[in-house]
This record gives sequence, structure tokens and C-alpha cells, in this order.
Amino acid sequence: MSGRVRKAVLPVAGLGTRVLPGAKTTPKNMLNVVDRPILSYIVEEARAAGVEHIVFIVGRGQGAIEDYFDSSPEIEGALEAKGKAEILADVRRDLPKPGQMSFVRQMAPLGLGHAVWCARDIIGDEPFAVMLPDMLMAADTPALAQAVAAHDRVGGNIVVVEPAPEGEAHKYGIVDLESQDGRLNKMRGMVEKPAPGTEPSNLFISGRYVLQPDIFPLLEKQGKGAGGEIQLTDAMAELMKIQSFHALEYEGVTYDCGDKIGLLRANVAFALRRPDLADSARRAITELL
Ligand code: UTP
Repeated sequence: MSGRVRKAVLPVAGLGTRVLPGAKTTPKNMLNVVDRPILSYIVEEARAAGVEHIVFIVGRGQGAIEDYFDSSPEIEGALEAKGKAEILADVRRDLPKPGQMSFVRQMAPLGLGHAVWCARDIIGDEPFAVMLPDMLMAADTPALAQAVAAHDRVGGNIVVVEPAPEGEAHKYGIVDLESQDGRLNKMRGMVEKPAPGTEPSNLFISGRYVLQPDIFPLLEKQGKGAGGEIQLTDAMAELMKIQSFHALEYEGVTYDCGDKIGLLRANVAFALRRPDLADSARRAITELL
């Protein structure tokens, strides 16, 4: 056991090249899935896991994120005056209590590891979550809540994993397990993009982590890795030499919204899950097909 997970780091400062040119003026995590930005779902997932404070790691030109999580007196006043209570509730649903969100500038997109390191002063000396906000995870028990429950059980560090599509494990960060029995397994190592045929398992690290603060001094001295970026996985591999890591195969479905087709799939899937939209969405999709 190593303390409760109260804070989550959401790194959103990447360039989002796979969803350009849209991501040029709209931060990619502010793109809509049905009628809410992707980040709205991620923040909802964080809160459902008991997270009280969210640290966004943002880049230049991403002021829209801060504005979205702030009150908008003009819009809210107009909705109140018109008696549009339902839309007003929707507009207010994502607002934090004062002081529950921090925004840290990553002054250059040097990599995910560097982005997480930027949160060190706000996280301090406690375990924390990292959520990759491109990855939208639909699950009965939200993915981060599953990871936090695993952390409550075994402590140390937890990475959420899932099976890579057939023949695609070499594109991902893959975990190496001590043994595989059930969904929560002790890790022996991890490999970033293993050469085809050399993958130690078919489970890839899919975007939710619970990490111990001991990762920060390792990130501080972490040099550039794959793609010339400071990689979180490299620092995790260092931390694994002194602390336990477990891989949790979560129960749910992941949509990679950092990718054009992934974003499209998420829009279709989430519209079909919405009781108020399912019928008309199904009709529209069937018509197109
Ligand atoms: P990605 O690998 O998806 O990179 O980063 P990206 O730049 O966002 O997207 P592509 O690949 O160019 O299309 C994984 C997560 O880490 C964040 C990204 O915003 C994304 O949420 N990140 C990455 C940072 O915050 N800073 C970085 O320097 C790199």
C-alpha cells in the first residue's frame, strides 16, 4: 500500500500531427465526440476514480482548454434567462471546484516523459495517475477506477494494458510479464515497439497509469529515447529496477481519438450508446451505408 491517488496528470501538449489540420487551431483533445470534447470524458473518468485535482500539461495555443473548464457568465446567463436548464447543466457539468485544476506549460514538446516531469511540483510526494487523453476508454467501471483499485490491492506502479490488434504489437509499448494469471500481473519489463516476432506478450500500454513520485528524479535525468523524445517508458524501466510494476488488463473498449478513424469510431460508438440519440444515429449510419 502506498497512499491514495488524489491527483491526475493529463498531458495534452503534443502537436497532434495525425489529426492536423484540425488540431492546428483546436487542441486535438478539444475535438468533439458527439457533443462534448474528448477531455470532458477523460475528466469524468478521473473524477469517477476519486481524483480530486487535475494537472493539465498544455502547450502554446491551447487556451481553449482552460476556457472550457472555466465558467462562461455570458452563455450561462443567456441559458438561465431562457430557462434552458438542461443545456445549462450540460455546460456546467465539467466545471471544477475552485482550485481543483492546474495548467502547466510544457514550453517545448520534448516528449511524454518530459510532459509528466513538468507536473512534479504540483504532484509532490504522493502516488498519482497519468491519463493519455487521446485514449477514450468506454467501460462499466471506468478504466482509471480499475487501475486505482489495482493500486489499492498491490501498491507500487500500475500500467493499464490491452491486447494489441493481431500482428500489430510491434507498433506499441509492450509489457513483459513474470507470469500471466488473470488480469493483474507482475511485470518483468517493457519494450517500446519490439521488432516483429520478438514481442514478449501481445499486451500494449494503453494510456492509464498509476505511478509513484519516485519517477520524477528519474525523468529529470532521462535522456532522449525513441523518436528523439524524452520517453516515459524509459524512466519507468529505470524505476522498475527498484519498485514493483503490475500490468492491469482492463475491462472495456478503447478508442484512439488521436487518429482520424479512431475519432470517427468513437463518435459512432458513443452516439449509439446515448439513449437520446441511438435511434436517429443508427438510422443516419444505415442510410449512409
Ligand atoms: P502522442 O504520441 O499521441 O503525440 O502523445 P501527439 O503529438 O499528441 O500526436 P501525433 O502522434 O503527433 O499525432 C501522447 C500524449 O502525450 C502528450 C500528447 O498530447 C498526447 O496526449 N504529449 C506528447 C505531451 O503532452 N508533450 C509531448 O512533448 C509529447
